[in-house]
Amino acid sequence: MNLIDLPRGYRGLLPRTTRLADESYLDFVETFRGIAGYGNYDQVAQTGDEAVRQQLGETDDTTPIEDIREVINALPFPAAWQRLMRSHQEMMWRRTRGSFLPFDEALLDAMKAAESEGPGKLVYDPNFTPPDYARREIHLQPGGYTDDPIGGVVYHYGTKVFYAGGNDQDEMHAELVDTLTPPADGVVNRVLDLACSIGQATTLLKDRFPDAEVTGLDVALPLLRYAHYQAVARQKAVNYVQGLSEDLPFEDGHFDTILSYILFHEIPVPVIQATVKEASRVLRPGGTFCIFEFPSASADMPASQRWLIDYDSNNNCEPYSPGFVYLDFHALLREAGFELAPGPKNSNGFLQTIVATRPNS
Ligand SMILES: C[S@@+](CC[C@H](N)C(=O)[O-])C[C@H]1O[C@@H](n2cnc3c(N)ncnc32)[C@H](O)[C@@H]1O
Repeated sequence: MNLIDLPRGYRGLLPRTTRLADESYLDFVETFRGIAGYGNYDQVAQTGDEAVRQQLGETDDTTPIEDIREVINALPFPAAWQRLMRSHQEMMWRRTRGSFLPFDEALLDAMKAAESEGPGKLVYDPNFTPPDYARREIHLQPGGYTDDPIGGVVYHYGTKVFYAGGNDQDEMHAELVDTLTPPADGVVNRVLDLACSIGQATTLLKDRFPDAEVTGLDVALPLLRYAHYQAVARQKAVNYVQGLSEDLPFEDGHFDTILSYILFHEIPVPVIQATVKEASRVLRPGGTFCIFEFPSASADMPASQRWLIDYDSNNNCEPYSPGFVYLDFHALLREAGFELAPGPKNSNGFLQTIVATRPNS
């Protein structure tokens, strides 16, 4: 099977937008995000922290977020920055989806045709309905992860812009997979990519562990369909399963290692709690759960960072991230029986990395 014949083809792994004008526009949005968004954040944070100090004195993680929000939102520079972050995100999704939408039938046909092809499998129950919490339009993506049939390709190009061109050929996922910590005994027969989205890490896991059975699980069928179609076209022998991280369809002790990249801040606290228990259940003794995630709050987290999490939660549809950030995630992992060690350093310095090992009993 070949990759679907999009008018402007692919650049390596990445589908090109279907019109040059879309690519130019989105290149602009990507640059705009870098210069106006990331480029101004330090000054936004500095201005915000200064005003908070003046008006509230010293703060810590017990200072009500409403107080911090009131102070920082009243400042013109952070307020303008918020508008800009929201607007560029809206521009990005609108144009990305608009570029692929005229080819939705061709894309859907290609993805459906791939379902009966291998080397790997796509497993889902046509009667499965994702839970409501998973159907929010996270990061403002139209239809969210679950409800836009061409959400896979839209997510792929959209995250290209999000990573500011730094992940066009899955470079960032390659780093995750290269630095993943296997069990100490070196035995890796089965690997799970938990909340695999479009399978960017999943196929790389197969490259790293060619003899292992590699599975990607996600709640979102549009993303998995796209992942499977890409894997078939590129002849990668990985399996994709639609399912819930909090109710994993695998036997006890099934996996030797599990990767989870930025899942936990996108699910509600009860789902986080159940997911940690499930990860522990499906790992074999000595198995490793390798987590790359948003940072957890600490008493010395600057007020501006708390404001940013709050802003993102309310204006970029990250409704669950404050729940994760203020949870004692490490304690939760320990309660589920894991032994914790710091994970490998990641070039994305924002992320915390944890290697949670299920002890040999
Ligand atoms: C930020 S993305 C994860 C990124 C991905 N791990 C990667 O390698 O790029 C979050 C993913 O979690 C999935 N998700 C959300 N709730 C889930 C759940 N309860 N079970 C499984 N997947 C879930 C979403 O569909 C989405 O694909």
